[in-house]
Amino acid sequence: MTLGGWLRRAERQYAGHRAALGQTSAVAHDEALYLILRTLGLPLDSRPSVLARKLSPSESAAIRDVLHRRLVDRVPAAYITREAWLGGLRFHVDERVLIPRSYFVEILPGQVDPWLRDPARVTRVADVCTGSGCLAILLARHFRNARVEAIDLSADALEVAAINVRRHRLAGRVRLLRGDLLDPAPAGRYDVILCNPPYEPTAHVDRLPREFRSEPRLALDGGPDGLGLVRRLLRQAAPRLKPAGILMIEVGGGRAAFDREFGHLDPHWFHTMDGSDCACLIQAARLAPRHARARS
Ligand SMILES: C[S@@+](CC[C@H](N)C(=O)[O-])C[C@H]1O[C@@H](n2cnc3c(N)ncnc32)[C@H](O)[C@@H]1O
Repeated sequence: MTLGGWLRRAERQYAGHRAALGQTSAVAHDEALYLILRTLGLPLDSRPSVLARKLSPSESAAIRDVLHRRLVDRVPAAYITREAWLGGLRFHVDERVLIPRSYFVEILPGQVDPWLRDPARVTRVADVCTGSGCLAILLARHFRNARVEAIDLSADALEVAAINVRRHRLAGRVRLLRGDLLDPAPAGRYDVILCNPPYEPTAHVDRLPREFRSEPRLALDGGPDGLGLVRRLLRQAAPRLKPAGILMIEVGGGRAAFDREFGHLDPHWFHTMDGSDCACLIQAARLAPRHARARS
């Protein structure tokens, strides 16, 4: 069979097995093609003519095996290949971390700088709930003059983050810290605090498709209404931001509840391509108006 033939077969199998999508790609065709190319050791930017390539029996067997792991055993594609791509960068991932897919990848390049007095003078950044370290690395690449503190409660996740920080040669500027939210952050104030916390309501986590339940529960479970960590971070962040600093949080399906409870903080909801617009920015001055006025 040709590679294209395997791709069509894989797409039918994805549909037949009702595979859950959204971790590597939202589209079965794209994820299946990715898995096939990776299994055969072919470049991800192969030309369309690669579809005509005839596969050897051992290549076909390897693809059959990978599709079985993905569709029958329900192993997420990224845990099979041990990699995930975000913002054009490759990250090591395995079962110790959430598979990177944060909306901040589309927000960071164009929507954040207008909220800062001078992005070139951003010197201190915190990535709370760093997981694989993917957002800490994107932040360090975006804010070239900043040191980034990347914090996670999970020692396992921090081991993965360390691999990625090393791989992207950012050990000099990204520091990994273990602890609860901002607790381990060293003294001083931040220009930018960003957080993609666990935000699934506890009851939803048990109902997620198997692929998603194979991600660490600590990375998904946001408490009874999904906003448990968000509430605590909002309290912690106020005294940890510079007067012109910003806090950015992704809340997933919790946007309406967030607006009801924290609308008075005047959150700015970033635009996302899928229209969910579920990550927001809050200015330090809104979090602690009196405190910020006294210091500016
Ligand atoms: C949704 S994942 C985000 C990972 C990564 N930032 C990303 O966008 O792919 C949430 C992360 O928060 C961590 N976490 C959970 N509770 C925490 C807490 N109280 N303090 C710090 N990190 C926590 C989990 O271990 C997990 O790595």
